Amino acid sequence: MSGWGWPRIIAHRCGGALAPENTLAGLRIAALLGCRAVEFDVMLSADGEPLLIHDETLDRTAGRPGRVGALAAAELLATDVGRPFHPAFGGETIPRLDTALECCAALGLAVNLEIKPAAGVEQETGRVVGRHLAAFPTSRRPAVLLSSFSAAALDAASSASPDVPRAFLVGRFDAASLAHAVRMGCAALNLSRDDLDAVAVAAVHAAGLRCLVYTVNVPDEARRLFLLGVDGVFSDRPDLLLSASPTPNFG
Ligand code: G3P
Ligand code: MG
Repeated sequence: MSGWGWPRIIAHRCGGALAPENTLAGLRIAALLGCRAVEFDVMLSADGEPLLIHDETLDRTAGRPGRVGALAAAELLATDVGRPFHPAFGGETIPRLDTALECCAALGLAVNLEIKPAAGVEQETGRVVGRHLAAFPTSRRPAVLLSSFSAAALDAASSASPDVPRAFLVGRFDAASLAHAVRMGCAALNLSRDDLDAVAVAAVHAAGLRCLVYTVNVPDEARRLFLLGVDGVFSDRPDLLLSASPTPNFG
């Protein structure tokens, strides 16, 4: 397949393992490392604000209890997710989606925006993300690839932002998921690296889709996957993959 212009190494959760996940600090570190694309996760607060966070609770990243979907945006936006990672990042808070998009555009980073709905609000989360993208000034919008494990969220986002390419996220490859991605008009099928083989990658390409793979932190594994033909990898250690690449971004 001809190139689609998307960087091949994508910093996972903004800056990978080198910064608190899903933060603006992570975006800046990814850019400093030479990354040209990042992935981050977006969930809704109780009052419907799309924010960057992966888990449905604050325990792991903020070191305190609380359900994201039960808390107002004002409280979440003031929540320190930097200090629990390392004191040097103290004061780094959960970002708004719009702030993160502006930061990516300023840093020249493309974005794989993963819609990460809390259980039960899949359509609403997709709809809000799609509306935010549609309302976001085109001149300040970075290149965006929408993805989700939730087909309902992806469909809802697509209704509001039909021009934004989408990827269906699954764990292990199976023909039914690929067929579903094709029916949804997705540009890519994003897969776990577990048990991924050349047959699966060829099937994705034969269907006319790209194949992005998570989460790849060892350069030899990245090499193996690129030899299989995968189009990109999400990494917690983009520094290692970039420094092992013979050409920028394994291009
Ligand atoms: O989008 C790839 C990857 O981020 C999916 O898994 O759990 O890290 O969001 P997770
Ligand atoms: Mg993710």
